[in-house]
Amino acid sequence: MTHTAKDPILLTGGAGFIGSHTYVALIEAGYRVVILDDFSNSHRDVIDRLSRLTGRPVEYIEGNVLDRQLLNQVFAERRFDAVIHFAARKDVGASTEIPLQYYETNVSGLVNVLQAMSTAGLFRLVFSSSCSIYGEPARLPVAEDAPRSFKSPYGHTKLICEQILEHAAASDPRWQIGMLRYFNPAGCHPSGMIGEKSLGNSRTLMEILARTGTGELPHVPIFGHDYDTHDGTAIRDYIHVCDVADGHVLCLDHLDGGQSPLVLNLGTGQGQSVLDVISAYSRAVGRELPHLFAPRREGDVSATYADVTVARELIGFEAKRSVDEMCESNWSWICNARGIG
Ligand SMILES: NC(=O)c1ccc[n+]([C@@H]2O[C@H](COP(=O)([O-])OP(=O)(O)OC[C@H]3O[C@@H](n4cnc5c(N)ncnc54)[C@H](O)[C@@H]3O)[C@@H](O)[C@H]2O)c1
Repeated sequence: MTHTAKDPILLTGGAGFIGSHTYVALIEAGYRVVILDDFSNSHRDVIDRLSRLTGRPVEYIEGNVLDRQLLNQVFAERRFDAVIHFAARKDVGASTEIPLQYYETNVSGLVNVLQAMSTAGLFRLVFSSSCSIYGEPARLPVAEDAPRSFKSPYGHTKLICEQILEHAAASDPRWQIGMLRYFNPAGCHPSGMIGEKSLGNSRTLMEILARTGTGELPHVPIFGHDYDTHDGTAIRDYIHVCDVADGHVLCLDHLDGGQSPLVLNLGTGQGQSVLDVISAYSRAVGRELPHLFAPRREGDVSATYADVTVARELIGFEAKRSVDEMCESNWSWICNARGIG
C-alpha cells in the first residue's frame, strides 16, 4: 500500500527502542518523521545513528510530553499527519516502587498529547499498548476481546490509557486511533546500530542473556521450571522489534476513518519457552550459555501468546523474523555497544 501523508508523523519517544526502529521503517516506507523525546531513557547519539542508518538528517525536538506549553507550541508551529505516542515509562518492577511517576508520565502524558492534538485539529494517533493489559490470560492464544486486567501499576497505566482513548473516540468521530498491544518485542535492527537501552537491572530475558554472553552474569536464572509447558519453563510471544515497527507503518496506512479505536495484537502467534530462547541466544553467541533453575517469581504467568488473526485480517500484519534473528541482532548490538569484536 502506498501512503498519502503530506505532512510528517510525530513520534513521541521516538529515540527509544521501539520508536527508533519505527522511525527507520517509516522512512523506508516514504514517510517524513519528526521525533519528540526528552532522552530520559535513550542516548542522544541515537539521533546520529538514525541519520547514518537512513542517510538523511533526523528532525527532532528535545522535550517532555508533560510540558503542555511545549506540545501546544509544537502543534501550532507545524502540521503533522499523525502522532505515534511511544513516550512512557516501561519498567514493570520500577512501577511498583514509584507508581505516581508512572501514572504521571504514562497517563498525564497521553492526556496532554491528546489535548494538544485536538486543539490543533489533529485526530490521528497510534498508541503503544501492551499485552500486560491481559493480566493472567484465561485462554490461549489471547485475542483482543479477552478480558482486560493488570498485575502492576505499569499495566494499570496502559489499561487506563486504552480507556481514555476509547472515551475520546466515542466523544468525537474525528478521532482515528490505533491501539497496538505489543507482546514481547526483542532483537534490533540487523545493522546492530540501534537497540534497547539497558535499564541496568537485568529484568528482561534478553538483557539477562546479553549480560551472560558478555560474562557479566555467571548464568541465566530461570524462574520456574515446573510450569505446564513443553519443557516446564515459562512461554512468551517474542516478536522481532523490526516486525513491531512494520506493524506501525501498516496501522498508519489503515487509519482511514474506519473502526476507531482499531485494537490489534502485535505478536507472532507462537510461544517460545525460556529454554528455547536460551538455545537461540547460545547459537548467536557461539557457546552454550549456562543456566540455573530458580523458584517461580510471584506474578509471572506460565504462558502467553497472541492471537494474531485480527491484525492479519485488518491490516495484513504478519511477523516475518525468527527468534534466531532476534538473538543474533541483539548480540551484534551488544557487541557493537561494548566494543566486543
Ligand atoms: N519494550 C517493550 O517490551 C514494550 C512492550 C509493550 C509496550 N511497550 C510500550 O511501548 C512504548 C515504547 O517502549 P520502548 O521499549 O521503546 O521504551 P523506551 O524506554 O526505549 O522508549 C521510550 C522513549 O520515550 C522517552 N520518554 C520517556 N518519558 C518521556 C517524556 N515524559 N517525554 C518525552 N519522552 C519521554 C524516553 O527517553 C525513550 O526514548 C512505551 O509506551 C512502552 O510502555 C513496550
